[in-house]
Amino acid sequence: MAPQKLLPFSLLLVSLLLHTTSAQSPAAAPAPAGPVNITKILEKAGQFSVFIRLIKATREDLTLNGQLNNSNNAITIFAPSDSAFTTLKSGTLNALNDQEKSELVQFHIVPTYLSSSTFQTVSNPVTTQAGTGNRLALNVTTSGNSVNITTGLTNTSVSGTVYTDGQLAVYQVDKVLQPLDLFTPKPPAPAPAPEKAKKKKGGEGDADSPAGVAKDASDGGERERFMAGNRVVVFVVGLAAAAVAL
Ligand SMILES: *[C@@H]1O[C@H](CO)[C@@H](O)[C@H](O)[C@H]1NC(C)=O
Ligand SMILES: *[C@@H]1O[C@H](CO)[C@@H](O)[C@H](O)[C@H]1NC(C)=O
Ligand SMILES: *[C@@H]1O[C@H](CO)[C@@H](O)[C@H](O)[C@H]1NC(C)=O
Ligand SMILES: *[C@@H]1O[C@H](CO)[C@@H](O)[C@H](O)[C@H]1NC(C)=O
Ligand SMILES: *[C@@H]1O[C@H](CO)[C@@H](O)[C@H](O)[C@H]1NC(C)=O
Repeated sequence: MAPQKLLPFSLLLVSLLLHTTSAQSPAAAPAPAGPVNITKILEKAGQFSVFIRLIKATREDLTLNGQLNNSNNAITIFAPSDSAFTTLKSGTLNALNDQEKSELVQFHIVPTYLSSSTFQTVSNPVTTQAGTGNRLALNVTTSGNSVNITTGLTNTSVSGTVYTDGQLAVYQVDKVLQPLDLFTPKPPAPAPAPEKAKKKKGGEGDADSPAGVAKDASDGGERERFMAGNRVVVFVVGLAAAAVAL
């Protein structure tokens, strides 16, 4: 960053703001009390814009906010910073389909409240919203002051606390936690070849094409083809009828 370059622009912004809000009460109203809003928390922290886009695209924000609206639920999120995403091999996110993006986001969410003291006694592997099993292992260990995380592919440690309120804990990690399940070859199983053809152009930025939409669209395509087939049949019968009438 070059602050001396930004200065004139921010001065301009400030004067614009002063102009447009001079008639209103001062901005920066205190956060209204209400249900926890995960996007808001991450936005306020800054530096989580890619993760925010991902949780919106996968609609995980709605799921989380819904879960957090019930005080019986507790959640821990390991939120990868924007710089975490820059350490991924380029194209990594774009290569994931919508379902895989959901799995990646859910892998960063633990359905229990982990405080710094529970980190020391947590039993591994820690279950995430992505599910259980060797291929979705997330191990958390403490070592001196650091909380280390390993997935079998990613080694990192918690680099900061973003938010804690006893129900929700959000920690910053500076690597994307990559589950074996998404980033190592699947064990012998039929190759998901048709997925390739259906893959949409979008990538980390396709915040406006959530998983459900893509699925519905492809189902719709199937139905349309079927309908077209019917119409062809009807048309042929119609020709035959016309021929008989002649
Ligand atoms: C949560 O916060 C985001 C960003 O501040 C906002 O766009 C969204 O409408 C909020 N959601 C709810 C349910 O309040
Ligand atoms: C939270 O839960 C209450 C009670 O069940 C419900 O009335 C309210 O609509 C919920 N709010 C949100 C944002 O889901
Ligand atoms: C935990 O992470 C720290 C800092 O990244 C590293 O120095 C240490 O060796 C790690 N410990 C274990 C047990 O992996
Ligand atoms: C995670 O911990 C479990 C239990 O200690 C261990 O069996 C497994 O190998 C560990 N996985 C990784 C990736 O460290
Ligand atoms: C992660 O840490 C383990 C044990 O500390 C090490 O064996 C492994 O090579 C590391 N993996 C990566 C990708 O750095």
